[in-house]
Amino acid sequence: MIKLQQLRKEYRSGSHTTHALKEINLTIEKGEIFGIIGHSGAGKSTLLRSINLLERPTEGKVIVDGVDLTSLSTKRLQEQRRRIGMIFQHFNLLSSATVEENIAFPLRLAGTSKSAVQARVRELLDLVGLGEQGRKYPAQLSGGQKQRVGIARALATNPDVLLCDEATSALDPQTTNSILALLLDINSKLNITIVLITHEMHVIRSICDRVAVIHAGQIVEQGSVAEVFMKPRHGVTKQFIEQVADPVELDAAAADQTDVSGTVIQINFLGETTYDPILSRAVQQTGVTFSILQGTISRMKNTPYGQLVVRLQGPAEAAEQTIVLLRESGLDVEVYNHGLV
Ligand SMILES: Nc1ncnc2c1ncn2[C@@H]1O[C@H](COP(=O)(O)OP(=O)(O)OP(=O)(O)O)[C@@H](O)[C@H]1O
Ligand SMILES: [Mg+2]
Repeated sequence: MIKLQQLRKEYRSGSHTTHALKEINLTIEKGEIFGIIGHSGAGKSTLLRSINLLERPTEGKVIVDGVDLTSLSTKRLQEQRRRIGMIFQHFNLLSSATVEENIAFPLRLAGTSKSAVQARVRELLDLVGLGEQGRKYPAQLSGGQKQRVGIARALATNPDVLLCDEATSALDPQTTNSILALLLDINSKLNITIVLITHEMHVIRSICDRVAVIHAGQIVEQGSVAEVFMKPRHGVTKQFIEQVADPVELDAAAADQTDVSGTVIQINFLGETTYDPILSRAVQQTGVTFSILQGTISRMKNTPYGQLVVRLQGPAEAAEQTIVLLRESGLDVEVYNHGLV
């Protein structure tokens, strides 16, 4: 478990002070994929680099598995850092070394024997899907392959935590997805905690369990990805969610109609209830008819979620009763307007 307590970071240059982090409190559970999203300059990299003290906070504590890293001697800190791997937007590979040598680098630093290094490198090449590329140099690899080398190198010493600083921001969408799939696979195979920072909501939605939104050095919102997607509270969060909103007009004619009678409701679905015929059952019971005005459905990690905007038509009490039934079935229902019936 990672705990950041009352973290502050100031950068001073001459008389000017930048407050990069202001009172950050964050708990990241073991084995989860935790995303931190924010605009450029929000403090994402500073926050991530605080976790392994590449950036020393001005104030506050960084506690990893019960050990307060800010209190350690340089030697103990170096030992603890081996338990925290890191990957970068621009890969940071040694260009004059082969793929194998790049991956072996942290093992050599840790004093691992030559034969153990060889065996471990072989294992890591297979894990990241680079089986036959070991003798190549970074310049001979695609961006996606370079990031796979970065991941293998970060995992070499069997860390408990993997920090990812915009690990897919230099990659095209398809390669991004393959790297995200690899991170998901590594997380489930190794039960490694992953903390990633990004400015892309797509990344959060694809693989994260929980998310924190950082703005001007402060966490303005956090929660499970599902909660934050369904009920964003902060304006910045809403902006990010718009990046991935893809409304589909299911019934343009119904949406365009000038007849405004009926009750318009929005139903928010999450998980398997998405596929349940709850709506059809409810309308059968109450006798209202409905038309679908708009709907979206997407996937969040492995969970389907979506929104459906429908107009219920029929006696007002029947519409009310339908809403009660939907809510009793566990659906989240918002009522837009009670029109005249
Ligand atoms: N070494 C430094 N010296 C002075 N100011 C810095 C330093 N590093 C970061 N800052 C400032 O701290 C703030 C947060 O920077 P940070 O790099 O953490 O943002 P970020 O969210 O990672 O942005 P980006 O998405 O552009 O990478 C910014 O105002 C930045 O200018
Ligand atoms: Mg950054």
